[in-house]
Amino acid sequence: MSQYVAAIDQGTTSTRCMIFDHEGAVVSVGQKEHQQIFPRAGWVEHDANEIWANTREVVGQALARGNVGTSDVVAVGITNQRETAVVWDRSTGQPVHNAIVWQDTRTSAIVEQLGALGGGADRYKDKVGLPLATYFSGPKVRWILDNVDGARERAERGELLMGTIDSWLIWNMTGGADGGLHLTDVSNASRTMLMDYRSLSWDAGIAEEMGIPMSMLPEIRSNSEEYGRGRKAGFLAGVPIAGSLGDQQAATFGQVCFTKGMAKNTYGTGNFMLLNTGEEAVPSQNGLLTTLCYQLGDGKPVYALEGSIAVTGSLVQWVRDNLGMITSAPEIEEQARSVEDNGGAYFVPAFSGLFAPHWRSDARGAIVGLTRYVNKGHLARAVLEATAYQTREVLDAMNADSGVDLTELRVDGGMVGNELLMQFQADILDVPVIRPKIAETTALGAAYAAGLAVGFWSDLDELTAKWAEDKRWEPQMPADERERNYRNWQKAVTKSLDWVD
Ligand code: G3P
Repeated sequence: MSQYVAAIDQGTTSTRCMIFDHEGAVVSVGQKEHQQIFPRAGWVEHDANEIWANTREVVGQALARGNVGTSDVVAVGITNQRETAVVWDRSTGQPVHNAIVWQDTRTSAIVEQLGALGGGADRYKDKVGLPLATYFSGPKVRWILDNVDGARERAERGELLMGTIDSWLIWNMTGGADGGLHLTDVSNASRTMLMDYRSLSWDAGIAEEMGIPMSMLPEIRSNSEEYGRGRKAGFLAGVPIAGSLGDQQAATFGQVCFTKGMAKNTYGTGNFMLLNTGEEAVPSQNGLLTTLCYQLGDGKPVYALEGSIAVTGSLVQWVRDNLGMITSAPEIEEQARSVEDNGGAYFVPAFSGLFAPHWRSDARGAIVGLTRYVNKGHLARAVLEATAYQTREVLDAMNADSGVDLTELRVDGGMVGNELLMQFQADILDVPVIRPKIAETTALGAAYAAGLAVGFWSDLDELTAKWAEDKRWEPQMPADERERNYRNWQKAVTKSLDWVD
């Protein structure tokens, strides 16, 4: 009888379930998009109930399509969009508000007030590895408690729970209001601004200052261990839930970046580059995050430096949905190929402010360098190039922080099918860009973590042996052209700043 591992990948735009066999090959996939709710400029919400319903649906799809029975699944791993925060009632299971998504900027006043207590944006950095910014979950929970009628009182009475999406799903999968397990993992916890990254426990002082009762917080566990078993009839009932990682950490794991100095860059809604720094947590001097990479069972934690970029793939979606300039995302490459270069146009997609390395919530999107000459093709190029330039900013910061220049970059995610972008990326970074054969690294990483915990795979060496190169792009652009283009981009970035009073 064949055995499989299932991975649930709850991302920003859709939820997927992938079934993997022992080789690490994809057996089947279920996928469903969920609604993006934009109540006001800068606000982004998801309906947590819809996400839970979609999760059940896509697991059912994947099992049916692969002709896989629940009893053939030895473990399930969870991976999720990070920082997106849910607050729910522990006795009814109902969220008290829509989930506030990582891209949402409504907490800018809260983070400013916290910074004004002393220390500015770096107030908690030494403990949590993060600058005060709207991106992280703790202040989002504070916003819900401040703005939903009666929520603070209910939270103080111990009636409400908080969690990132991993917690929300695991609580529901393990019984919900009927004894569901309330837990999270070190990688998701490291994005809340509430976890001390050295002790891997909640920092009571920060929680108090942020106005978040400790009784709301989940238990922090490793990324690979049996947390519990599915308890929803017909939905992975009895299957060990044995892996859980934030999606970017999962992609790092799926890219088998197990050695200090290895890095990956994922091209999704946003871009996220993670560099494994080993058992040492490296504080950033250059606008990167110090974050958990992974911890396996009771093993030592492995840390990472991360460069988070809020808007890359979602800029292509915006061009499709809000401008109607293309009808499908891959069409952007066709448009871009209709011209030789960007015609002088640069697009800074600061829709959620700018994340790494700038951390400027007052930034807003800008298209600059326009002349009458610029056409749709040039704008399509500018859209794709924005991803590559933002990645260059992050790579430069990473080289500066780590003191070692990266010599190659492993890539994955939706946009790595775009050959024009990948070549331009190698050109602008001046390092080879490498795509693996299994490009579904996020789900794969969650499956690996779960499979390791139950002994389906024996160790990291076995997983490393499965990684194989699919394609590599070598830099071709002359140095003077590369640096001139990049200087223009840096000038364009200055035009996107100071837009919010
Ligand atoms: O930090 C946000 C990140 O986890 C979202 O990833 O792939 O859902 O856009 P993705």
